[in-house]
Amino acid sequence: TNQTAYLRPLIIGHRGAAGEAPENTMASFLLAVEQGCDMIELDVHLTADGKLAVIHDETLDRTTDRKGIIRGKTYAEISEADAGSWFAERFRGERVPLLEEVYEAVPQHVQINVEVKNGYGGAIEPVMDAFLGDGDRLQRTVVSSFDHKLLARMNRSRTDLKIGLLYAGRLIDHAGYAGIMGCPVYSLHPHFHSIDAEDVARAKDAGIAIYPWTANHEADLQSLIDLGVAGIITDFPVRLKRMLEQS
Ligand code: G3P
Ligand code: MG
Repeated sequence: TNQTAYLRPLIIGHRGAAGEAPENTMASFLLAVEQGCDMIELDVHLTADGKLAVIHDETLDRTTDRKGIIRGKTYAEISEADAGSWFAERFRGERVPLLEEVYEAVPQHVQINVEVKNGYGGAIEPVMDAFLGDGDRLQRTVVSSFDHKLLARMNRSRTDLKIGLLYAGRLIDHAGYAGIMGCPVYSLHPHFHSIDAEDVARAKDAGIAIYPWTANHEADLQSLIDLGVAGIITDFPVRLKRMLEQS
């Protein structure tokens, strides 16, 4: 459970600081760290040679200068793609990082929310499991996914894993849904529009954090601060930090 998580909302940088740097690149993660994030959120896909690549889409097309499906390419091929210049010319030279590179570059006190985008028919779970191990990496990680069966399978192989339930629907009972997962749930990751004060209270009572995504406008950030959520996933961590300091 997560009883102490509601003192002030954690600042969670979405894909790093995706409002100000190319998403899911080292530049984005380091900016998020510099801006004082407590946690960074990132997305992973499996490559043809079984590596964990940090990228949102299943293809290179939108966020790099290359095309093609991640699962069909080796990491060596993927690393040739430029993942920065589509966002702004000054970010040319950024690459699609390996998950381990992000863990090495981001200081240990910053938590990492790994969003597993696709299970690849069960192929990604053992790779994630081996990657996390049972030491420092595991301690600072929350694994989330829209695929709840994948999360439950990951928990079966290691019960000490922090599971983040990611979803978009406006559930009747968010904490109650966590209760039917068949494994302990550490955090709820709802769309920020889909929760109210009662949902937050029930999650708190259940010892589960709520980390809504992805709020960027000041009015939305303020509503979530007022609701007393445990963390806020945002493309503009610096904006959230300033608001928290002023309140
Ligand atoms: O993990 C929260 C959020 O990132 C989920 O949606 O599409 O931005 O990965 P998406
Ligand atoms: Mg994501």
